[in-house]
Amino acid sequence: MKSLAELQAIRDRARSQVILRENNDNAIRVLVGMATCGIAAGARPVLNAMVEEVAKRGLANVTVTQTGCIGICQFEPVVEIVTPGQEKVTYVKMTPEKAVRVVNDHLVNGNVVTEYTIGANS
Ligand code: FES
Repeated sequence: MKSLAELQAIRDRARSQVILRENNDNAIRVLVGMATCGIAAGARPVLNAMVEEVAKRGLANVTVTQTGCIGICQFEPVVEIVTPGQEKVTYVKMTPEKAVRVVNDHLVNGNVVTEYTIGANS
C-alpha cells in the first residue's frame, strides 16, 4: 500500500503532464467520439487504428483522445481533428481503414480527406 504522500506525488506528476499537453498550443488534437452510440457504431477499432497509425508514423505533435457525445449519432463513428489556427474538421462514418488514410493524408500531408467529412456525407 502506498502512503498518502506517495499517492499525492503520483497525482501531481500526472496532473503536470496533462497540463503540459493542454498547454501545447501547436498540438493537433484528434478527438474520437466515444459516447455509447459511437462505441456501438465501432468507434473503438477506429480509435485504436488512429493511435496505432499516429504512433507508427511517430507524430509527436498529435494527441489522440476520446471524447463523449458529439451530438450526431447518425454519423458515428465520428472523429474530429482540431489543428491550431484552422477550422475543425469532422470526419463521419469512420472505419479503421478510413482512419489510417486520415492520419496519412490529413495529419502527415495536411490534405483533408473531403469525401469522409460531414459536408460530403450529410
Ligand atoms: S449520444 Fe450519440 S452523439 Fe451524443
